[in-house]
Amino acid sequence: MTNQLLRKKSIPTILREAEEGLHDSEGHSSGLKKVLGVRDLTFMGIAAVIGAGIFSSIGNASYNGGPGVIFLYMFTAIACGFAALCYAEFASTVPVSGSAYTYSYVAFGEIFAWIIGWDLLMEYAIGNVVVAISWSEYFTGLLDKAGMHIPDWLTMDYVTAQRGFAEGTEAAVRAWTNAPQIFGLRILMDVPAFLIVALITYVVFIGIKESRSLSNIMVIIKLAVVFLVIVLGAYYVNPKNWSPFTPNGISGILKGVSAVFFAYIGFDAISTTAEECKDPQRDLPKGMIYSLIICTVLYVLLALVLTGMIPYTKLNVGDPLAEVFDQRGLYWVSGIVAVSAIIATASVLLVFQLGQPRIWMSMSRDGLLPKIFSRIHPKYQTPSFSTILTGLVVGIPALFLNIEVLLALTSIGTLFAFVLVCAGVIVLQKQKNRAESKFRVPHVSGKYIIPALFIASVILVIKYNPEHFQNVLTKEGFPMGIFWVVAAIIAVLSFVKDFSLIPVLGFTSCFYLMAQESHTNWYRFLIWLAIGLVVYFTYGFKNSRLAKETLAGAGTPLG
Ligand code: ALA
Repeated sequence: MTNQLLRKKSIPTILREAEEGLHDSEGHSSGLKKVLGVRDLTFMGIAAVIGAGIFSSIGNASYNGGPGVIFLYMFTAIACGFAALCYAEFASTVPVSGSAYTYSYVAFGEIFAWIIGWDLLMEYAIGNVVVAISWSEYFTGLLDKAGMHIPDWLTMDYVTAQRGFAEGTEAAVRAWTNAPQIFGLRILMDVPAFLIVALITYVVFIGIKESRSLSNIMVIIKLAVVFLVIVLGAYYVNPKNWSPFTPNGISGILKGVSAVFFAYIGFDAISTTAEECKDPQRDLPKGMIYSLIICTVLYVLLALVLTGMIPYTKLNVGDPLAEVFDQRGLYWVSGIVAVSAIIATASVLLVFQLGQPRIWMSMSRDGLLPKIFSRIHPKYQTPSFSTILTGLVVGIPALFLNIEVLLALTSIGTLFAFVLVCAGVIVLQKQKNRAESKFRVPHVSGKYIIPALFIASVILVIKYNPEHFQNVLTKEGFPMGIFWVVAAIIAVLSFVKDFSLIPVLGFTSCFYLMAQESHTNWYRFLIWLAIGLVVYFTYGFKNSRLAKETLAGAGTPLG
C-alpha cells in the first residue's frame, strides 16, 4: 500500500505523457499554443502578484505594524525568493503545466502530488474568490463616486452585511434592511464579483494569446500607477510619521503575515503556462525571479511612502493608496488609483483563472481526475472543460462568501505549496542521476550553517522571549510547536546528509510564515486536506495512470 501511495513519475515519463496529451488519436497536434517569452512571463508574474494585496490589505498590515511593516515585506520577499529559486529549478527540469503538483509527483510520489494538487485549489480558486470580492468593492465604490448606485444587497455577502449591520456600517445597514427575503431568509449576493469572473473566464477560454495581450496591457497601466503613487507620494512624506518605526513591536508586525504574503502570491503561477512557453526551461526561471524582484522593490517603497505620508493609525482602510491622497486633498490622484485598482485586480484574476485549469489538466492526464478535465478545445486550444469549471468554482462562491477567512486560507495553502517545492528540490538534488536542467539553485553546503542557525535561534528565543517555548504547548501556539520540531529535524538532517542551504532556508522560512497563521486557520486547512484525501481514495487511487500501467505490467512505478 505505501509503495502504491508513493509511486513516483520519472521526468522522461512526464515529458512523454505531456507530449502525447498534446496530440489527438490521429496524431494531429491538439495542444496548447507556444507563444510566451521572458517578457510575457515577467509581465504575467507581475500581473498575478500586484493586486488586492497591495491595493487593499497593505492598509491593515501597516496599521498593525506601523512603518516597521517594511521588515515583514522584506522577510516575506526573502522567503519567497528562496521558494522562487526552487520553483525555477523545477520549472526548468520538468517544464509541464502542473507546477508544484507535477514537481511533487517527481520528488515524493503520488499521494503528495495529489495533496498539493488539492492544496493548490486554495491558492488559485479560493485566492481568486478573494480577488473577485475585492475587485467588486473597488468597482462598486467607483460607481458610487460616479453617481451610479447598485442596490447594496446585490454587492455584498450575507456575513459581511450581517456583521456590518451590527456594527452600524452604512452600506451594510442598507443592504441588510433592503434585502428581499424568501421564507424569512435575506437574499444577499455579490453580483459584480460573479460578473468579473465570468468575463475573465471568457477571455481565458478563447485563447492564451488574447489572455497575454490583455494581461500585458493591464500590467503597464498598473505599473504606471504604482510609480505615480511612489514618486508623487515621496514629495508628501513627512519623516516624523516614521517615528516610532515599530510602534507595536514584532507581534504587531507579524499580524500582517497573511495579508503581506497574499500580496506576493502569484509569481509561482506562471509555471502553469510551461507548455505555452517558447523555451520554458530558460524563460520560466527568469520570468519568476524578475517579477518577484520588481514587485519586492515596489512594495517596500510603497510601504515606506504610505506610512510616511500619513500616520500609520489612519491607514486601516480598504483603499489605502487612494486614502493617502484623499487626505492631502489630491482627489484626482485617488481617482486614478481607484480605476487602476480595478485593472490590477482583474489582471490577478486572469492569471489565476489561467493557472487552475492547467493544473487540473495535468492531474487528469495522470488519471487522478476524470479525462474530461484535460480536454483541449479544438479551435481555441485551451483546456475547455476545466476553464469553464474554474469559472463556476470561483464565480459562485464569490457571490456568497466572506473575504477574511478566505484570504487567510489562500495564504496558508500557498505557503504549504512553497514548503513542498523547497523540500522537493532538496530531494531532487540528492538524486543520484540528477536530471538535466538549464537552471539550478546555486549550491552552498548547509551542513554546518543550518545547525548553527538553528542553535542560534533557540538561544536567542530563550534569552529574549523565554515564555515562547511554554506557549507552543497551548492550543494557540501549536503551529509554532510543529515549526520547532520540524526545524530541529531539518537541522539534524542537514548535518547528516549535507543538504543544500538555499532550499532548506526556503523550506524553513516558508514554514515559519505558515506557523504564524492562527490555529483556527490551521484547523480549516487540515480539514481541507482531509477532505482531499477522501476524494483521492474514492477516485484517484484506483484510476491513476500509474496504477493502471503497473497492473498492465508496463508501468515505471519507481521511475
Ligand atoms: N498577489 C495577489 C494579490 O495581491 C494574489 O491580489
